Amino acid sequence: MPVITTIADLKRMHKRRTPKMFYDYAESGSWTEQTFRENTSDFDQIRLRQRIAVDMTNRTTASQMIGQDVSMPVALAPVGLTGMQCADGEIKAARAAEKFGVPFTLSTMSICSIEDVAARTNKPFWFQVYTLKDDDFMQRLFDRARDAGCSAIVITLDLQIMGQRHKDLKNGLSAPPKFTLASMADLATKWSWGLEMMGTPRRFFGNIVGHAKGVADPSSLASWTAEAFDQTLDWNRVAELMKMWGGPVILKGILDAEDAKKAAELGADAIIVSNHGGRQLDGALSSIRALPAILDAVGDKVEVHLDSGIRSGQDVLKALAMGAKGTYIGRAFVNGLGAMGEKGVKTALEVIHKELDTTMALCGRRDVKELDRDILLIPENFEGRWQ
Ligand SMILES: Cc1cc2nc3c(=O)[nH]c(=O)nc-3n(C[C@H](O)[C@H](O)[C@H](O)COP(=O)(O)O)c2cc1C
Repeated sequence: MPVITTIADLKRMHKRRTPKMFYDYAESGSWTEQTFRENTSDFDQIRLRQRIAVDMTNRTTASQMIGQDVSMPVALAPVGLTGMQCADGEIKAARAAEKFGVPFTLSTMSICSIEDVAARTNKPFWFQVYTLKDDDFMQRLFDRARDAGCSAIVITLDLQIMGQRHKDLKNGLSAPPKFTLASMADLATKWSWGLEMMGTPRRFFGNIVGHAKGVADPSSLASWTAEAFDQTLDWNRVAELMKMWGGPVILKGILDAEDAKKAAELGADAIIVSNHGGRQLDGALSSIRALPAILDAVGDKVEVHLDSGIRSGQDVLKALAMGAKGTYIGRAFVNGLGAMGEKGVKTALEVIHKELDTTMALCGRRDVKELDRDILLIPENFEGRWQ
């Protein structure tokens, strides 16, 4: 068993264990992948202010996100097809999150259904919805989430159309997957993944197949996804969806101060500053670079969260110290899941927690809720003067 000390260790194991088609699906961004790369490299530009001779006992990473207690303000982001990285992936990730005391967000495009995850966990999780045209289907999704005890809805606003990820096209990733000779040959070398996958009935989109009109089996799913997303989406529709759900709402995919103001006006419980992990608009700013202007615009009106590019507890600390109240990890937990299932997600959370806690101590701070920009060394012009 290798000694795992970083998310990068888990990523290497994920790559070895999981079919290329699904590993590439996770580890890619759209088009040139500029935004995908800058999500991480921009975190690296921020340095930390080392402080000494400050009592570092009794530290705490406990906090709250939308009023819910968390052992650290790091939620698991909604990730589609998680159950393809590892059999029953969403259930395993949700369990790891629950044991660690952080929120798990189930994607609409998950393999395990809302009911599957609810039946195999004990605490409420969050459910992410895409904005779809079909009102009946949206209402049923909300009803199912309510019946499953979900404590918040995350509405993703940055995917009315899909950004193109070249690798997915080349690998034949689709719903359902198209297998090529190369992908079949690769699959043959990932036998432990295959054995586990054969042992579960959960291999299709559990929230959709059998629930959406005209999608009785996986083969009709491809045409459904192309048709279902609502390109007419506007803020009135967002308000309508928030009303249909009627409970706590987090709006995801905000990267611009003007959009943040609209989201705050609608009364969202939180917004997520996010570029979908660099998978949508290539050339968009990294989330960490976009964060300060958004905080200046709405920081006192709505809780601001951030995702995209977090690979360590130091990245979490930087986002919190910059002013975010919560963060999310996508690929960092998927790497753990692909490497070692539930245990891998637990390991990913432990790695991030340890990095966050130790960094906080060495910056002379004891409470994650009291981190501020004073501990950061941010390069001049970090936010940039973009015309
Ligand atoms: C493989 C993959 C699938 C994703 N699927 C969804 C999804 O179904 N819904 C959604 O709102 N965001 C989705 N996202 C975006 C994540 O929720 C999150 O914004 C992103 O992963 C954060 O960036 P990070 O991976 O660098 O942490 C996905 C991201 C990845 C990597």
